[in-house]
Amino acid sequence: MTMSVVDEAITSRMSVRAFTPQGVPRELMEHILQVASRAPSGTNCQPWKVYVLQGRSRDTLVEQVCAAHDAMRADPALAAVYTEEYDYYPQKWVSPYIDRRRENGWGLYGLVGIGKGDKDKMHAQHQRNYCFFDAPVGLMFTIDRVMGRGSLVDYGAFLQNIMVAARGHGLHTCPQAAWNGFSKIVLPHIGAGPDEMLVCGMALGYADTSAPVNGFHTPRVPVQDFTTWLD
Ligand SMILES: Cc1cc2nc3c(=O)[nH]c(=O)nc-3n(C[C@H](O)[C@H](O)[C@H](O)COP(=O)(O)O)c2cc1C
Repeated sequence: MTMSVVDEAITSRMSVRAFTPQGVPRELMEHILQVASRAPSGTNCQPWKVYVLQGRSRDTLVEQVCAAHDAMRADPALAAVYTEEYDYYPQKWVSPYIDRRRENGWGLYGLVGIGKGDKDKMHAQHQRNYCFFDAPVGLMFTIDRVMGRGSLVDYGAFLQNIMVAARGHGLHTCPQAAWNGFSKIVLPHIGAGPDEMLVCGMALGYADTSAPVNGFHTPRVPVQDFTTWLD
């Protein structure tokens, strides 16, 4: 079967972890968000709220969260302060998810030359999240706390629409749950109200194609492993 342009946009999306400094015009971002907002949502609730950070707002958030991430390393007790507001990951990891998670982690670390037990380099690689991987645009996504779990399903469709629409304009993204632990810093910084919960962040920009980290292409399990055909 040949690839359609939609297939191409979907399959060319990947999590890019090194960006060029080239900025993204506001009209283009507005266009992408408008297209993405065609995502379906239960009873058309459209539970998304987006904050676009560029320039000073981006840089000062990066500074603050990098400092907090460093401080947390120096004083592990701070982990009790910087907690996630919802379980993005399971509390207890089991197979096959833990195996895929490990494969993903070591694949990425191997590519950027991080060996087992190299805590400094691991911290530095993790810290790259809090620089939006050098992307000039950082997006933050919140949801009204009153909404149910189903709205997070809707949110996923919206996020994927942004990432795929971005591809149609030569842009790349990296969705980032890494920010969630620092919502105590992020939410006041973006001016979110007390009724808003941080869903995740996202880096947006043009991929640095010369960066080895962007050569990381993740595998997928074959269709027959996750599909049951019923007659
Ligand atoms: C909601 C969400 C949050 C994610 N958070 C992070 C993150 O904080 N940092 C990161 O480097 N990658 C993050 N990822 C990217 C995943 O690691 C990536 O999607 C997965 O390994 C598959 O690779 P691909 O996106 O390149 O296809 C996240 C992905 C999703 C969907």
